[in-house]
Amino acid sequence: MAIAACLFDMDGVIVDTARFHFRAWHRLADSLGVPFTEEQNEELKGVSRVDSLEKILQWGNLVLSGTKKIELMNLKNKWYLEYVEQVKPQDMLPGVPEFLRELHEAGIPIGLGSSSRNAVLILDKLGIMSLFSTVIDGTKVHLSKPNPEVFIKGARELGIAPASAVVFEDAISGVEAARAGGFRCIGVGDPAVLSRADAVVPDLTGMSISRMQELLC
Ligand code: BG6
Ligand code: MG
Repeated sequence: MAIAACLFDMDGVIVDTARFHFRAWHRLADSLGVPFTEEQNEELKGVSRVDSLEKILQWGNLVLSGTKKIELMNLKNKWYLEYVEQVKPQDMLPGVPEFLRELHEAGIPIGLGSSSRNAVLILDKLGIMSLFSTVIDGTKVHLSKPNPEVFIKGARELGIAPASAVVFEDAISGVEAARAGGFRCIGVGDPAVLSRADAVVPDLTGMSISRMQELLC
């Protein structure tokens, strides 16, 4: 398959910030007296901040005012930003810098498709902003994954058809978004969790253009 572009999720694919989201949501759920497991966390991965809070409130049968919800989201984000403060280029997940570099040198456009409103801040901390031809993040979409809007917008900005692009995702919601948009999708993580992806790898160690083609043939 000829690959016209690669679109990357950020949290949990490029950098291990997924554990910081988990830690911050866990802390918030604890403060609300809502039990919160790793399995429930899988349902939050890839999902916007506001939709994540709504799920936690639903699990706890809690009904809160709009003002209180904003206060809680701000608190979670404050904790999250404290955790990510120390993120540096060395924190990119295994194989990521090499693979991004290869794509860039081969002239295959790289896009970001992240639900995070903190994406630009984190890409800057990692020093890789200049490698991205387009960055679609939580500030640019109306609908959270599993809706495909974030990837469709990315493909549109790159001027390529979804079927000719590959999405890299660590979240169930992200794999569903890629599929719904008509993209090929390589899952990054556990094959049992990401069973709807076209192929799954534990991380991007050894990932290359030829490996990607092998996985998707
Ligand atoms: C996604 C994460 O990338 O971004 C979710 O997988 C997170 O866990 C979402 O809730 C929104 O992130 P942020 O940084 O805008 O709160
Ligand atoms: Mg992710």
